[in-house]
Amino acid sequence: MRWLTIVAVVAMIGPETMFANELGARDGGSTVIPRPAEVTPLAGQFELTATTRIAVNPDGAEVRAVAEYLAETLRECVRSTGGQFAPWSPDEQPPDTIALALTDEMPDAESYVLEVAERHVRLTAGQPRGLFYGVQTLRQLLQQDAAAESGWSIPALHIQDQPRYRWRGMLLDCGRHFMSKEFVKRYIDLLAYHKMNVLHWHLTEDQGWRIEIRKYPKLAEIGAWRKATRESEQPRRGDMYGGYYTQADVREIVAYAQSRFVTIVPEIELPGHSGGALAAYPELSCTGGPFEVCTPWGVHSEVYCAGSDQVFTFLEDVLAEVIELFPSEFIHIGGDECPKVRWEECPKCQARLKAEGLENEHELQSYFIRRIEKYLNSQGRRLIGWDEILEGGLAPNATVQSWRGMSGAIAAATAGHDVVSSPTSHCYLDYAQLRAAGEPTQMGFVDLETCYSFEPTPAQLTPEQARHVLGLEGNMWTEHAPQNRIDWQVFPRLCALAEVAWSPLGGRDWNDFQRRMATHYQRLDELGVTYFVEPPQCVTADRVFAESIIVELANPLKRGRMRYTSDGTDPTEESPFYAGPLRLTKTTVLKARTFLPNGRSSNVAEWRVRCLTPRPPVEVTDVEAGLTFACYEGSWRELPDFDQLTPTWTGTAATIDLADRPRAGHFGVVFSGYIEVPRDGTYTFALTSDDGSRLRVGSDLVVDNDGLHGKRTERGQIILEAGRHPLKVEFFQAGGPSGLDVHYAGPGIVEQPIPAAVLWH
Ligand code: ACM
Ligand code: ZN
Repeated sequence: MRWLTIVAVVAMIGPETMFANELGARDGGSTVIPRPAEVTPLAGQFELTATTRIAVNPDGAEVRAVAEYLAETLRECVRSTGGQFAPWSPDEQPPDTIALALTDEMPDAESYVLEVAERHVRLTAGQPRGLFYGVQTLRQLLQQDAAAESGWSIPALHIQDQPRYRWRGMLLDCGRHFMSKEFVKRYIDLLAYHKMNVLHWHLTEDQGWRIEIRKYPKLAEIGAWRKATRESEQPRRGDMYGGYYTQADVREIVAYAQSRFVTIVPEIELPGHSGGALAAYPELSCTGGPFEVCTPWGVHSEVYCAGSDQVFTFLEDVLAEVIELFPSEFIHIGGDECPKVRWEECPKCQARLKAEGLENEHELQSYFIRRIEKYLNSQGRRLIGWDEILEGGLAPNATVQSWRGMSGAIAAATAGHDVVSSPTSHCYLDYAQLRAAGEPTQMGFVDLETCYSFEPTPAQLTPEQARHVLGLEGNMWTEHAPQNRIDWQVFPRLCALAEVAWSPLGGRDWNDFQRRMATHYQRLDELGVTYFVEPPQCVTADRVFAESIIVELANPLKRGRMRYTSDGTDPTEESPFYAGPLRLTKTTVLKARTFLPNGRSSNVAEWRVRCLTPRPPVEVTDVEAGLTFACYEGSWRELPDFDQLTPTWTGTAATIDLADRPRAGHFGVVFSGYIEVPRDGTYTFALTSDDGSRLRVGSDLVVDNDGLHGKRTERGQIILEAGRHPLKVEFFQAGGPSGLDVHYAGPGIVEQPIPAAVLWH
């Protein structure tokens, strides 16, 4: 093998500029994320020097581009003083070089072999993109090393690596909020750093059309701008917030992505989520408009008219320009959340339905998608859409992105269609990472471990069907996330999804991932990623006490330090450090916050710890088993004052549940009586309900789970002396499914439904 060209000589400066803590893989490469398929640690390390060279073979433009990228990132990482260039051509790899070589012995385009020895580094792959992934691994392996001349070394090892899935994607929704060109490029860099290879670029929405289409200039002039609703919404045109990418911007971003081996799959939404386009060209709707670019979030009724041939001409024209700009094999056409109300009333849509012999509006949507697929296929491209495109019949060659659970993935793969898995339950990174103060609670929660536990290939598929699962996608929708919140939502969860997509299933290990993340957070800091900082937790179970209590906090991130206050103010960098468990002797609002070494901090976590007088029992005799209940009719948004209302039905109930009582509609129920507890101590009540509920012991409000909400659990505590105590549980339902569960725990009682044996009236 001939090593042809030195691309760069990398001179190094001292280690003091870089990472405060140990960085990289002193333990043989095993801090790399995503975890490589096979890592064999070896003795020693390769020390970078002022004359370390990067060599390529063959000396083609593609390999050289990867080598230059490596030189650039090394320069970035170690703040090199700059490169020198000098040709050389020995037959053996000389010492002090990092050599990149292509070989025809590696059939998988993305696989690579990385050998780090004491005197040289050798990276081989079948394709430049394989080399590129080897370079990402190398970047993560670089470690601070005081003994090395440059202050930097790479541990000796052998890595053989390739991806599990070919589609390792992230969606970025630039429709709800516009993101700058530089920001999109940075997002691409962060995907590439984690060996992800698809940017699903959501470019058109009800709230904005973001791509210049030469044939339809009003898409950018009108469709890209909506009424600003918050001060922070920038950029502006007068009172309008928005923006769009010119075709030159798009070409620049596509070329940038190609240099990072990321394919951009553009999404042009149809027939729904088309408010931006319809504001610009209302004649494409069923009613003719006029419309404004939408400002409320949600699903909007105005959609493209399925009966209008002008709509298909428009969409084909748009897609023609999109195809010219994006080399991607796949074009995403959305297809999700398309209400049919306008189609049901539109003479043109109804005429189409009849003419095509369609049964209903779902089949009309299917007609719409098939017609678009025919066009895309005629241009040599493949159609991908959200799982709603299964409804009314799937277009013959369509690929399905399953978001409403995995059933769409199973249905499509079973029918022989390709699939990308991105269920809300594991892949929606617009959902909060935790139920914690300051996090968006509207959508739900997907924590890091849930992302890490994701399996993109449903178990029920046969091996043949499973081959249709191309991979996974994490979705970053931006209703509640303008550009400056994206990092916080996406990281660290992207790291978990990247590992699910890249690494062999057999090596999946949550504890080991967490161990590697401890190092990886430092890498993210160096990359300027403002990832989610998990707030402190209170590991002491009790929030009430009679005389005093020891409260212990924990820092789940295991990085930075916690500061706390006990006077109700938010902790700042001047607040005391948490040095160990705190002893409280009076009711206290305790607040704590984690501060990272670089000054970033978590949201404030808050706990109210109450000093209570133990509640004495009441003397009641002549009681009967069970509680009384009273049912009420009415429609409320929160619990009413039931004492002011007349019940429609009363009776007794053995336990607190909705059995044999109303279960649907709009109603309220109150259970009253006594609970008997066997011992003095702290009792915990857990109230799970859909919708609101509340639990009182005597006059003490112990659990407040009021309000309109889905199934949700709230807990509360009280200190009781042994004996009987007045108990009241109130509940209301405002339509939809009903649920009410009351559990308790106490001295000698593990958490359980309150049994009939302790309830009296
Ligand atoms: C989606 O979240 N509507 C695909
Ligand atoms: Zn219509």
